Amino acid sequence: MQIERGMVAVVTGAGSGIGRALCEQAAARGMKVVGADVEEPKLAETIDEIVRRGGEAHGVPTDVSVPEQVDRLADEAWSRYGGVNLLCNNAGVFSGGLMWERTLADWQWVMGVNLYGLVNAVRTFVPRLLAAGGPAHIVNTASMGGLVTGGFSGPYFTSKFAAVGLTECLAHDLRITGAPIGVSTLVPSLVATGIADSQRNRPERWIDRDAERKEDEQFVLAAMTDATLGAGMPPAEVAQLVFDAVEAEQFWIPTKPSYHDQIRVRHDDMQALRHPAPADLD
Ligand SMILES: NC(=O)c1ccc[n+]([C@@H]2O[C@H](COP(=O)([O-])OP(=O)(O)OC[C@H]3O[C@@H](n4cnc5c(N)ncnc54)[C@H](O)[C@@H]3O)[C@@H](O)[C@H]2O)c1
Repeated sequence: MQIERGMVAVVTGAGSGIGRALCEQAAARGMKVVGADVEEPKLAETIDEIVRRGGEAHGVPTDVSVPEQVDRLADEAWSRYGGVNLLCNNAGVFSGGLMWERTLADWQWVMGVNLYGLVNAVRTFVPRLLAAGGPAHIVNTASMGGLVTGGFSGPYFTSKFAAVGLTECLAHDLRITGAPIGVSTLVPSLVATGIADSQRNRPERWIDRDAERKEDEQFVLAAMTDATLGAGMPPAEVAQLVFDAVEAEQFWIPTKPSYHDQIRVRHDDMQALRHPAPADLD
């Protein structure tokens, strides 16, 4: 889809990191921006900054794991700006540590945001985008962790594999039905964001008040903080790649050249029926 001034972008996870950068990039290209996030003060910062620079933006506090709140997000986008052209389903959270030590609430939280956030968006937005007749494009943020696996992040990898599968299936269904809606999946390597500190805005219903935060979890979160903030790509560069990919109708949006080696190694392992090599933290 060619991005034109005056088109409308909806971005979830707009208060921080990649989502904030997507909002800024959309505004820089003359789009009207509807930002959604569960962390309201940070969402307001994103919106205020765009407006301060002369752009058009509106914030809708939204927990993407709650279907009614995603419905409201769409209602507000349509009532405020009359349509949606670009939908970036980007909100996501990370939970680290050994798989069997994670509580049921850890799993429900990660799957609730990273997978059901996408399910809710597809069910709410796609029928409306079809009725509007396009042009439109949907970008789902997955991860390299949706293509290759590693230790100490079971719920996250599981949710991101599901996000990749969902996005491929969505692309098939839209193509089979001749819909004027393009689809891409963003599969970032490390990006310098707040992802390691995802607990900061965990919805109340998935907080385990009694669960002690174990050593395995603390170790992984510390390593993730160092890896993302220390060596991650700036979010603004990721946003630039996303918009270029949307215009090029590119399905996969990797952020680093190591993407190619990592999927080749995975497929070599699969062909040879071997145990999967652990993902590189890149
Ligand atoms: N940072 C990385 O290295 C990296 C790598 C691969 C994929 N990703 C993915 O990128 C996406 C964006 O994350 P980020 O790295 O910018 O992290 P971030 O923590 O800086 O931003 C994530 C945003 O999502 C919001 N959010 C969390 N739960 C939400 C909910 N229930 N409803 C609505 N908003 C919610 C947070 O408040 C935050 O503003 C995520 O899907 C993440 O999994 C990140």
